[in-house]
Amino acid sequence: MKIFIDTANLKEIKEAADMGVLDGVTTNPSLVAKEGFKDFKTLLEKICEIVDGDISAEVISTDSLGIVKEAKELVKIHKNIVIKVPLIKEGLKAVKILSSEGIKTNMTLCFTPSQAVLAAKAGAYLVSPFVGRLDDVSTSGMDLIAQIVNIYNNYGYETQVLVASVRHPLHFVESALIGADVCTMPFKVIEQLVKHPLTDIGLSKFLEDWKKLNS
Ligand code: E4P
Repeated sequence: MKIFIDTANLKEIKEAADMGVLDGVTTNPSLVAKEGFKDFKTLLEKICEIVDGDISAEVISTDSLGIVKEAKELVKIHKNIVIKVPLIKEGLKAVKILSSEGIKTNMTLCFTPSQAVLAAKAGAYLVSPFVGRLDDVSTSGMDLIAQIVNIYNNYGYETQVLVASVRHPLHFVESALIGADVCTMPFKVIEQLVKHPLTDIGLSKFLEDWKKLNS
């Protein structure tokens, strides 16, 4: 399973990349706004310099022609840019056009298996079901991932399932068990994946014993 980081923070992206675990980056308008980075193009250029993998950049148009126009500007920035498009009717129309022109897309804000089927049929490269936001409204996000993976396998759809809105390590582990293609998560969750108290306790003990030997 590929690991993406879900942030527009360059420091976090660099640190995760240095750990050797990063396959790509997802951003969205809220994440970019949080960083206060007004020049989206420069931000994307910087991200592409750090990570050699899929970099999702989201459009803000909600009509198909506007989405296509924005997408064509964004893909000029770097060959790894994937256009993030909302899973709405106009978004599907745009993805159909963009995929026929070889432009990679990530259909975002997916909350049902039916939306995921439509994204695949329109030719999306990635689909992003939001597990955390479903959990927030008492609906199992991971059940949705299992359903989409199952349906995609039934019909051999090539669209990759990117688990988004990940809140904790169990989302990551369950995604891998189900067989999702990609899991994107905040830096905090990547750090949580590394941590185990027994690793820390064991390491302290090793270092302490070594010190005793040499004192
Ligand atoms: C996906 O690509 C989105 O950027 C993201 O995962 C949304 O996560 P949130 O629900 O924590 O905002």
